[in-house]
This record gives sequence, structure tokens and C-alpha cells, in this order.
Amino acid sequence: MKVLVVGGGGREHALCWAIAASPLLTQLWCAPGNAGIAEVAECVAIGAEDIAALVAFAREKSVDLVVAGPEAPLTLGLADACAAAGIKCFGPSAAAARLEASKAFTREVADAAGAPGARWARFEDAAAAKAHIRAQGAPIVVKADGLAAGKGVVVAATVAEAEAAIADIMESRIHGAAGATVLIEECLVGQEVSFFALCDGTTAIPLGAAQDHKRVGDGDTGPNTGGMGAYSPPPVFTDALRDAAMARIVTPVLAEMARRGTPFRGVLFAGLMITADGPRLIEFNVRFGDPECQALMVRLRSDLLPALLAACDGELANFDLRWEPVHALVVVMAAQGYPGAYAKGSEIRGLERAAQVPGVQVFHAGTARREDGALVAVGGRVLGVTATGATLAEARDAAYAAVDAIDWQGGFCRRDIGWRAL
Ligand code: AMP
Ligand code: GLY
Repeated sequence: MKVLVVGGGGREHALCWAIAASPLLTQLWCAPGNAGIAEVAECVAIGAEDIAALVAFAREKSVDLVVAGPEAPLTLGLADACAAAGIKCFGPSAAAARLEASKAFTREVADAAGAPGARWARFEDAAAAKAHIRAQGAPIVVKADGLAAGKGVVVAATVAEAEAAIADIMESRIHGAAGATVLIEECLVGQEVSFFALCDGTTAIPLGAAQDHKRVGDGDTGPNTGGMGAYSPPPVFTDALRDAAMARIVTPVLAEMARRGTPFRGVLFAGLMITADGPRLIEFNVRFGDPECQALMVRLRSDLLPALLAACDGELANFDLRWEPVHALVVVMAAQGYPGAYAKGSEIRGLERAAQVPGVQVFHAGTARREDGALVAVGGRVLGVTATGATLAEARDAAYAAVDAIDWQGGFCRRDIGWRAL
């Protein structure tokens, strides 16, 4: 099989790494890829959002399967364009990708499916939104409806903070059109879990769970990021909670999407809050998490490629995924300054030494090769140092041993990944 993976981050490196191990594979490309991906796939200089160029390339090379990493190409219609060209694509149609692109849509679908979540209300008018906040009191959550690069959510501890968020999002439009509509939600309390399900339009099977670390600083302090580290499986997410999440959230939502004529195929990422009365939905994403994907891929024993194909072909009903009985943990190394402004071009050394630590895989995100062959940082999140171990503590120790073997003056990482479970 000839496969094209779309994207160029740590998640896509992990996907390429897993697909490259498949005996079914004959050729693997990644657009645009990165320096680490170039070791397992041929990188193609096409942007992840250039749908026409991606489809033209897939046609020219007779690609059998396109695998979408990030949400942007999906919301722009990559899967629809592939379908029109007769090419299989792992990932939902633009209509089904609205589960990530619009939070109000997600809440409507979840309510219609009876999936438990936060109480919510939507507003197009700032004065009405502020009045609702004053009536409800704090803590309360304010969200821009549309995509806001992960920055559209304010968990407000006070009414004043929530009203200021309305002013920023609706009046000053700091997220542009994404803030024309806001959602105001009940603040859920508990631990968050990223739960993944593989979906073929009618059937969903669990694809594992992980816990992310969204804040940039140790002890969950500082601004939000795309994710500074993850581990899998999360001890808090018992088999009973997984079964409840499938039965009460994923399966009914899949049925509701099919009923609406927009069946969901691909990986459904449910952001869950584990509350005193079970798992409740915070949000959906229509793709793997990054860095959660890295922690899942090193645990997967089954060949990933037939699983992706079964999802495309509506054949998940009798599919079974096998997992290694290990724990995985990923530490993200980011450029100094991230998630704010950061410098590009600093050199990274010592990855060979890091890779020698038993159980370690270093996935690349924002890396490139300089003309002289040196590895340099070109993004905010740059490396995902991933390790497996018989226990989570072993995985953590191996990951940090590898981090310490890396010589990168321009980088930093959190030192406490996994703290909730350790
Ligand atoms: P989202 O972009 O929807 O994932 O929201 C970002 C973060 O805000 C989540 O990961 C949660 O930590 C938090 N959050 C969102 N909605 C709620 C809620 N209803 N209650 C508590 N925390 C929330
Ligand atoms: N790590 C969270 C995400 O990928 O959205």
C-alpha cells in the first residue's frame, strides 16, 4: 500500500513511525513532514492545508490511503476531496469535522444523543451573555464557538473575569469570527482524560486513553499550550469508566451523526472530565491528540494500517486492537518562550545518545535539517521524548534520562510529567 500522511508534528511522526512498521506498506510520504519524519517517510513540500495540491499529489502517485493528522485539512474538506477523486482518506468529512470546528454544534449533537456534559447556553449578544453570567455566578466557563487555536476557552474563577472574557471574545473579537457566538458552560470539576475511539461511521471501538498536561509550567502553572506531555494508560480511567464513555457518549454520538446524514469516520477524540457521577464530555476533536498520539502508538501491538483501513471501509465491527502491557510517557521539549514568541534555528545535539536509553523513541515536531546537516529547532513544540516501561515510574525515568542526554540550549521541558498518576 502507498500511504500519504498529512501534517508535520510529533503526532504525524508517531503515525508515520507506526505505519512504516506495517508489512502492508510499500511506500510512505508525509506532507510536509519534518526532519524526524524524513527518517521513516519521504517528505513532500506541500502544506497540510493545501487540499488541491495534496489530492493532486495523491492522484499522481496512486496513493491508496491518505491519513490526516491535524484538524485543519479535515475542516477544509480533505476527506471530501479525496472521496471525489476516488482515494481513501482516514478522517471525517468537513460536515462531520464540525464536531471540532463548532462547539455549539457539538453540544447540540451531544444533547440530541443524550451524552452527559456541562449545562450550557449560547449567545450572539454580549449584554445577554453578561447577564447570564451574573445570574449563574462563578466559577463559570466562557468559550468562543469556533476554532481559536486552542485559546478560545476561559475558565473564570469570578464573574468579573467571565465578563472580561465576553468583552475580549465578543466585543474586541480577539479570536475574530470564532467569537461571534459564545458558549457559557457550567464548570465541571475532576480529572481530564483524552479518550480516543476509532470510528467507521456506524461502529466505534476504543483506541486507548491518555492524560495531557496543558499548562506550560511545573505543577500545572502558567499559560495553556498544545500539550507539554502525556502518559497512557491513565490509572484514573478504569475499564468501567471506558465502557461508560463508549456507551453514554461515543456510541450515541456516532449514531446521531449517522442519523443526520453526516457519519463520522476517523478517530474521535473525546475530552472527558471524570466527575463524581462518571465521565462527562468537555469537547470533541476529530483527530488524534498531540502529544497523546505518541504515547498511544508506542503501546500499540497491532498493525495500525489495517485498523485505519477498516475505519475507512466500514469494517470495524469485528476488529480487535492489541496493546503491549506497558506504560508510556512522553515529555515535550519546547523552544524557550513557547507558548509565546520563541527563537528559531537553535541547534539540537545528542539525539543518538537519547535514543539509546532502553524503551525510548524520540518523535520530532518542529525540527529541520540545516544545509550542513545539523538538526535545528523551527517550531514551538520541538521534540516528544517518549518512553515505555513496565510501570509508569519506569517510563518516566527512561524519558527523563533521554531528555538529559539531549544537548539543546534553546529548549526546555516540564520536569513533572505524570505527577497526577505517580
Ligand atoms: P477545550 O478547548 O474545549 O478543550 O477547553 C480547554 C480546557 O478548558 C479544557 O481542557 C478544560 O481544562 C477546560 N474546560 C473546558 N470546558 C470546561 C468546563 N465546562 N468545565 C471545566 N473546565 C472546562
Ligand atoms: N493535546 C491536546 C490536543 O491535541 O488537542
